[in-house]
Parts: sequence; C-alpha cells; structure tokens
Amino acid sequence: MTLTSLWQDRHPRTRPATTDADLGGHYDVAVVGAGLTGLTTALLLARAGRSVVVLEAGTVGFGTTGRSTAKISCLQGSRLSTISHKHASSVVEHYVEAQREGLAWLGRFCVEHEVPIQRRDAVSYAHGEQGEQTVRRELEVARKAGLPAVWDEELPLPFATRGGVRLPDQLQVDPLELLDALTLEAAAHGVRLVEHTRVTKVRGSDPVRLTTAAGVVQADKVVVATNMPMVDRGGFFARMKPQRSYGLAYRTPTQAVDAMYLSVDQPSRSLRDTPDGDGSLLLVGGNGHKVGARVDTSQRLEELRQWTLEHWPEAVETHAWSAQDYEPHHELPFAGPVLPGRSDVLVAGGYSKWGMTNAVAASLVLSGELLGGHMPWAEAFRTWSRHEVTGLGTAALLNGEVGLEMTRGWVEAAATGSVRQDGLSRVCTHLGGIVRWNDAERSWDCPLHGSRFDEGGEVLEGPAVCGLRRSS
Ligand SMILES: Cc1cc2nc3c(=O)[nH]c(=O)nc-3n(C[C@H](O)[C@H](O)[C@H](O)COP(=O)(O)OP(=O)(O)OC[C@H]3O[C@@H](n4cnc5c(N)ncnc54)[C@H](O)[C@@H]3O)c2cc1C
Ligand code: FES
Repeated sequence: MTLTSLWQDRHPRTRPATTDADLGGHYDVAVVGAGLTGLTTALLLARAGRSVVVLEAGTVGFGTTGRSTAKISCLQGSRLSTISHKHASSVVEHYVEAQREGLAWLGRFCVEHEVPIQRRDAVSYAHGEQGEQTVRRELEVARKAGLPAVWDEELPLPFATRGGVRLPDQLQVDPLELLDALTLEAAAHGVRLVEHTRVTKVRGSDPVRLTTAAGVVQADKVVVATNMPMVDRGGFFARMKPQRSYGLAYRTPTQAVDAMYLSVDQPSRSLRDTPDGDGSLLLVGGNGHKVGARVDTSQRLEELRQWTLEHWPEAVETHAWSAQDYEPHHELPFAGPVLPGRSDVLVAGGYSKWGMTNAVAASLVLSGELLGGHMPWAEAFRTWSRHEVTGLGTAALLNGEVGLEMTRGWVEAAATGSVRQDGLSRVCTHLGGIVRWNDAERSWDCPLHGSRFDEGGEVLEGPAVCGLRRSS
C-alpha cells in the first residue's frame, strides 16, 4: 500500500496515462523519470529545439516530488552550515547562488503559467540548547553567503523555542500543480511523455539504448532523473543514504502558521500551511529515519500525530503519507556525466530533501552541459570533482554501514528462516540486500540503497528495476 499524499489526493488523474505498447524511435535526448528534475530538463531542452522523450515508470509526480512538502527556499534547515563543515566558503556561495537561480526560475515559471504560489518567510528554529548553537551558526554562514537572514527570538508558534533564523520572501507551492503545468508546457514544445514505462537498462553509445518492457528507445543523450540513479555505473547508490520521513495534513480553524518552519534539532519538525478552498491546511512533517531501518514505522507516524494534537488540539487530520530522498556523503547535490568523460549519459540527484530549488538548478546544469552553456555555480553540482574526494571518508563509512547492514540482514534472515516470506523472496533485486517489512505503508523496504516493493513484490521506488522474486 502507498499512503496517498495531500497533493496526489487533490489531483486525481483525470486524463488517461500516455502509454505506448510498441515503443521505439530515436531522439536527441531521452529523459528517465517525470519528477521535477526530469520535466524541467525536458522542457529546457525542447525549448532549445531538441527532440525529447520522457520515460516514466509510474505517472507524472509518482515519485518524491508528488509527496514533497514543496517549500521553495534558499534557507534549508541547517544545510548551509552542514555544507560549510566540509567545503570552502566559495562552494557554499555557489550552492546558495544555485538555490537563488532555482527559486527565481520556479517563481517566474509559476507566475507565467498561473500556478498558485504563496510568498512566505522560511524559518530554521531550535527546540533546545544544541539546536540554538546550530541555528546561530546557520545565520552566520547564510549571511556570509549573501542571504539577508535575520535572528528572530520570539517565534509565533504554540510551543517554546530558543529562537531561529528567518529568511524573508521565499515560496511554497502545490508540487503537482507545478508538475502539471510543466507537463503541459513540455508537451506544447513537442516533448513526448510515456508513462507506466520502466527503463530497465541503459546500454551502449552512439546511440544509447534504453530497454523497456514495451520496446527499445534510442537516443544520442540520456538524462537519468530518477532521484536515486537506476544505472549502476558511477556507483551513485554507494554515495548516498536513503532517508524516509512522514507528512500529515490538518484542517485548522484559522491559518495555523505564518511561515515555513523547520527545526534543526531532533526530532525534526517541518511546518507550513497551504490554502484549501476558503480555508487553510496545516502540513506537519518529520520523524525521519533511514529507509528499511529497524523502526516501528506506524509508531513514527503516531508520534507525529500526538505531537501535532498537543499543540493544535483543534486540528483535524485529512492526510498522512511518507516519502524519501537521498543524502550524499559530501553534502552536495550532483548533476552531470555518469562517469568522467561519458557525456552521453547524465545523472542528477542527492538533494537532501531540498529538491525544489536543487532539481531546477540541476536541470539548468544538465541542459547547460548538453546545449553548451555554463553557470559559474555549476561547480557545486559536479558529479566527479574534488568534492568526491572530500567526502571519501564518509563514503567509506556509508559503504561500511551498507556492508554491515547487508551482513546483518542475511544473518537475521538465515537465523529466522525468513529469506522467503509470504511467497516472496526477501532478497532485493538491486544488489542483494534483505528487505524489511514497513508496517505503516505495507511495503518491503531495502535498507541498502532505498528500493521499495509493494506487498506483491512490485517495485515502488528506488534503484531496483525488477520486482521481488516469487518463491513456491
Ligand atoms: C518528506 C519529504 C519532504 C520534502 N520537502 C521538501 C521541501 O519542502 N522543499 C524542497 O525543496 N524539497 C523537499 N523535498 C525533496 C524534493 O521533494 C525532492 O528532492 C525532489 O522532488 C526530487 O525530484 P526528482 O524529480 O529528482 O525525483 P522524483 O520526484 O522522485 O522523480 C523521479 C521519477 O523517476 C521515476 N523512475 C524511477 N525509476 C525509474 C525507471 N527505472 N524508469 C522510469 N522512471 C523511473 C519515478 O517513478 C519518479 O516519478 C522533500 C523530500 C521528502 C522525502
Ligand atoms: S536497494 Fe540496493 S540492494 Fe536493495
């Protein structure tokens, strides 16, 4: 079972999915994935006259974008100070510049295509003493990088805080309204969208061949925009940690929060409002954990509910859902060639739950790479650079954790005789991890690189391209 997000419920699919039972053809560019990265990249390339096909395993917005909290902000919790711990201040400045470009592009696109957006301040706040130190450091780094952030001691929230950093004039959106407008605009520029079509292989060169159950598509260039790249080359799955967290929506008598809030200390709490008819809904997010972790997922969701009702006792729940994003070891997003010198297959991702600005910035980098433009800030997104070296210690640690998780999963499954369960093999078809049952979403989740499978073993998301094997 997949929990339906507020946005997905608000925008049930009314137009038929664009499928093709006999797929083929040759395109300048094939884009894999119809989330914010894939659709923005496709539109930018089509506007420049390229023939583009987008191949999507589910439907538009089926992935993380359709489940995002969708705050469009340059202030991102404690992201800037986290990046500054590993990188020079020039890298932080490039990262901030990329966020500004992403925000400006989205703001313009929404106005031009009549997608409702709301202007809100973004606030990173602290619950406790340690959090306050983090937030004060965030203020320092943000101001140094040129953001007009200010300290706010008294936040209008119904619980005690130790203050926070406020950045005025950021944006929030309904992400599916945004994707819908991007889809229409891309189609108007000739982009061909094929849904319900999972790419299982990306092979060869000149042209590159993309295999699907409905046929093989050929393209001079390929952009893999699947969040976690589904191609093994480049080893991106080994560079990122899959993180899942929960979202709740509530009807409240009046607008519950005046800004987009995010706590920097644990347990994390994310708050925003969204207009809904004549009223307003409160969105509460948090209680994240690694995908496939040994946690009681239903309990995580329940804790978030209890916390909300403690502070907004009149709130009435309307939706509950969950989503995942990927945190790269070197803390920076990436967009570029899958391997050094391999400029015909490009990948993007690693947005650390800040993909609204980063997906657009990554799309600008990718289209620049394919069309011959260059942004000075693109340095912060390089797939192969000295940042990789900076993060090697953490990469080794992550791989160590992954190896340990793999061993633990196999030992546990062998000891309990549960390598097979409910007629399914628990061996993940990506690289052999042992999947765990996720009670809240009734899915099988892999702790290694975040692949998820439904009750019947079909792929839901992540780098796996085929379902769990049936066993007799
Ligand atoms: C709980 C949560 C809250 C968040 N809140 C915010 C926020 O407030 N602000 C913010 O900036 N960011 C936020 N993010 C992050 C942001 O939503 C994501 O980074 C962003 O949406 C990723 O977009 P994407 O297009 O790269 O990936 P996705 O939206 O996941 O799109 C990838 C697409 O690829 C498809 N696909 C996968 N494999 C294949 C295949 N083999 N063949 C064909 N198609 C395939 C999938 O079906 C999917 O549609 C949040 C993330 C989470 C988890
Ligand atoms: S997701 Fe890689 S082994 Fe399961």
